[in-house]
Amino acid sequence: MCGIVGYIGSGDVVSVILRGLTNLEYRGYDSAGMALRDDGTIKIYKTLGKLINLKNELESKRKEIIHPTAGIGHIRWATHGNPSLVNAHPHTCTCGKLVVVHNGIIENYKELREELLKKGCKFRSQTDTETIAHLVADEYASSKDLEVALRNSVIKLQGAYAICVMHKDVPDVIIGARKHAPLLVGIGENENFIASDTPAIIEYTKKTIYLDDNEIAIVSKDKVKITNTKGKVVEKKTEILPFEPVALSKMGFKHFMLKEIYEQPDVIRNLLNGKLYDISSPIALNEVKIDKGIIKNLNKIQIIACGTSLHASLVGKYIIEDFTGISVDVEPSSEYIYRKTTTDESTLVIGVSQSGETADTMTAIKQAKEKKSHILIITNRPDSNMARYADSLIPVNAGIEVSVAATKSYTAQLISFYLLALHIAEIKGSLDEKYLKNIKHELIQLPYKIEEILSNTTQIQECAKKFSSFKNFIYIARGINLATAYEGALKLKEISYINATGYAAGELKHGPIAMLDETMPVLSILIPGSITYEKILSNSEEAKARNAKLIALTSSDDKNLNNLFDIVIKIPKVSEILSPSIACVPLQLLAYYIAEFLGKDVDQPRNLAKSVTVE
Ligand code: G6P
Repeated sequence: MCGIVGYIGSGDVVSVILRGLTNLEYRGYDSAGMALRDDGTIKIYKTLGKLINLKNELESKRKEIIHPTAGIGHIRWATHGNPSLVNAHPHTCTCGKLVVVHNGIIENYKELREELLKKGCKFRSQTDTETIAHLVADEYASSKDLEVALRNSVIKLQGAYAICVMHKDVPDVIIGARKHAPLLVGIGENENFIASDTPAIIEYTKKTIYLDDNEIAIVSKDKVKITNTKGKVVEKKTEILPFEPVALSKMGFKHFMLKEIYEQPDVIRNLLNGKLYDISSPIALNEVKIDKGIIKNLNKIQIIACGTSLHASLVGKYIIEDFTGISVDVEPSSEYIYRKTTTDESTLVIGVSQSGETADTMTAIKQAKEKKSHILIITNRPDSNMARYADSLIPVNAGIEVSVAATKSYTAQLISFYLLALHIAEIKGSLDEKYLKNIKHELIQLPYKIEEILSNTTQIQECAKKFSSFKNFIYIARGINLATAYEGALKLKEISYINATGYAAGELKHGPIAMLDETMPVLSILIPGSITYEKILSNSEEAKARNAKLIALTSSDDKNLNNLFDIVIKIPKVSEILSPSIACVPLQLLAYYIAEFLGKDVDQPRNLAKSVTVE
């Protein structure tokens, strides 16, 4: 997936597009490019690698850029064609008058390319995107109308696209179109924008129009027209963005990831606010639009998600089953969409996605919707495509998360699951009143406990320093914290590139134990009070007997742990069912500090992107 920014107006075109792309860097960063309408011509600039290279390139060419009035920019995460200058966007038609940037995948590009080659088009790259440039130019040659040309072109495209085009001979306009990939229009004063996501425009305007599939936006500096693919004008609602530009600042932290880790207590408070007043009032989750009678008889829930959201969903399964007794399946969206599932109209399907954009989850949700299931979406982006498919929507309200590695959105997803499970439990009457009150009390206390962890990270930093030279890690846990082990290991892999794997502690002896020696540290998550506490201790002993270095993450005060473990990282006491929301924080910090010590690019790790809009 990639990021698109189009701008037309009286502002500084280069700076506005660069700012926008900077705020979209989470979408990809292997190459970047910009096309400018300047002095009656189209000028194109492209660079390999991060956006800073494009900034420097444009800076060095500043003298040749006279007075641009519009431009389109792109930041790429390669799908078709390796990251290279020739494959970087914008792409042009044969004569170079038409430029296009694209996010998505054109599935029938080979067939289209064959036809266009026969017509004499000269292809320069290996990308599917270049086909769009030739196709639109070919249509423009006959219609002499860019809007008509784009409309006639998009109906020939199969796959997913968000496109922005500009033509040398059509000076006053940039045009965007979308299908299965996000695109919006930002409305300013004497200037307008087209972009993949809101952070691109938030520093300039809060007024936005979200395009739907098969819509085309014809944007000039003082006018916006949206049509469908038949050319009919579509009346769209202008929405006001709920974010402030300050959300895109590091606020004095070295990295966005660290800032976002530190935001977690407030994220939880924010999410609980208005939903959990006090321990005696029922959870106010008006977002869940399922009839109470249906909830009472609900016996099947399926949760679909990817990556970190999948780990939150695994925790969600434990919580919902524990609180309500309803059977819950969790499946990676990429698996769910390619098999015969048992989803039906009596299934509650929960889609979890921080971005609300992930292609696999999007497809899974559409499939479940076709089976008439009630769709509940838990997302940090209530303005996303996925949210539009929701029958019930729980916005996790974590604020914009810039760092590619998810942290605060994960915690917010966990809290959403607690609220949801408690809400269902209250309707079903499945929890003992005293237990219910205790859980609510503990939930309200969570932010303070996380603040306690964040107020002193010395020990975690020491652990990071001591272990940053290891090439492999194993994280073990049992029960609800198995997902914490998966997530902790994923965080480490994502940002430090160290091979880390989470295992059910009981599985250690069935294979992974063969890998244990002094080069393989084992991190054990130990929550006292749980029936598996002693078992995990025994599993840690087994690892010690194979010379593995041991780290404990625990709320136990047992001094004997210092004899068994090389480092004991303490977390505040909390009941086991709530412990994932606390235990994840030191693991995020451990991954962060290891990556920091290793000098890795924490916020933008290699090969990753924050939202993956391709299957
Ligand atoms: C990408 C990101 C992960 C994220 C996953 C799912 O792979 O790098 O951090 O967990 O997508 O994203 P979603 O937005 O659906 O939660």
